[in-house]
Amino acid sequence: MNRFYHKSAFLNEIKNIITDIEGIYVDATFGSGGHSAIILKNIGINGLILAFDKDEQAIYNNIINDKRLKLLHENFKYIKNELLYNNINHISGIIVDLGISSCQLDNPKRGFSIRFNNKLDMRMNCNSNITAQTIINNYSEQKLTKIFYEYGNIINAKKISKKIVEKRYYKNIITTFELINSIKSEIPKYKTNKFLARLFQSLRIEVNNEIETLKYLLIQLLDILKIGGRIGIISYHSVEDKIVKYFFKSGTLDGIYKEDIYGNKQIPFKYILNKKPTQIEIKKNSRIRSARIRIVEKL
Ligand SMILES: C[S@@+](CC[C@H](N)C(=O)[O-])C[C@H]1O[C@@H](n2cnc3c(N)ncnc32)[C@H](O)[C@@H]1O
Repeated sequence: MNRFYHKSAFLNEIKNIITDIEGIYVDATFGSGGHSAIILKNIGINGLILAFDKDEQAIYNNIINDKRLKLLHENFKYIKNELLYNNINHISGIIVDLGISSCQLDNPKRGFSIRFNNKLDMRMNCNSNITAQTIINNYSEQKLTKIFYEYGNIINAKKISKKIVEKRYYKNIITTFELINSIKSEIPKYKTNKFLARLFQSLRIEVNNEIETLKYLLIQLLDILKIGGRIGIISYHSVEDKIVKYFFKSGTLDGIYKEDIYGNKQIPFKYILNKKPTQIEIKKNSRIRSARIRIVEKL
């Protein structure tokens, strides 16, 4: 799968994070490099992008040869350290395109998709120790229920986890299809694929610790971003979008405003853009149907 296999979301909107053509930018989720390519087109010869991806394949399969782009095989949760290591204190903007790329989803060996029978893996970083198999075969019934319910909105999460625990008692669940078969009697007959996609999504979020990592990144951005600098975040489901929405409103993870000594609310950001894809955009790229881009500017 080459650099153009993944269709990047909101390509027309990405340039809105640029406020200084000679500034330093971060692409926190390089993927196939579609967003980095847009930023490169819109910055000057002295601009710079630091691009992160924790998936080694994303980095090495999608290299863009441009001296203004520095590719890092690293988790974006280490952004502050990584910037310091590169002698950078502040950045002018950052784009974060959450979730997985089509290259990951459509690679049967990665175990992300309900369409292929393969080992339950779902790691974005293949050097990590925790796979979907680890979770399915070791987490308690209660913990599995919590994940399916909170990260996948699975209404019958309790029944699903019970089935998994019963099945794994006899033999570990190794593959994607073994997982699907083990819960067959609890899968709704209507919108089956949508249900399974949400179940797999919840597992993927847990495997990659996506929610905690996002929170960790957001808090660091308060220090790293220049005043007047911009943050763009593309989210694909309500759990992550809610966190982003609260943070952009208040600068805190729980949405509660900080106050100054006079009791005035501190407003950290102003909105530049808050957009869902149009029907035409969804027609061209069905994987962005649940996406939303929010861009804010630091006050
Ligand atoms: C939706 S894709 C990004 C696509 C990219 N914007 C493009 O235009 O090609 C998400 C990418 O972010 C990476 N990723 C997800 N969480 C990450 C994290 N915490 N640190 C670094 N990379 C991450 C994934 O491995 C994946 O390649």
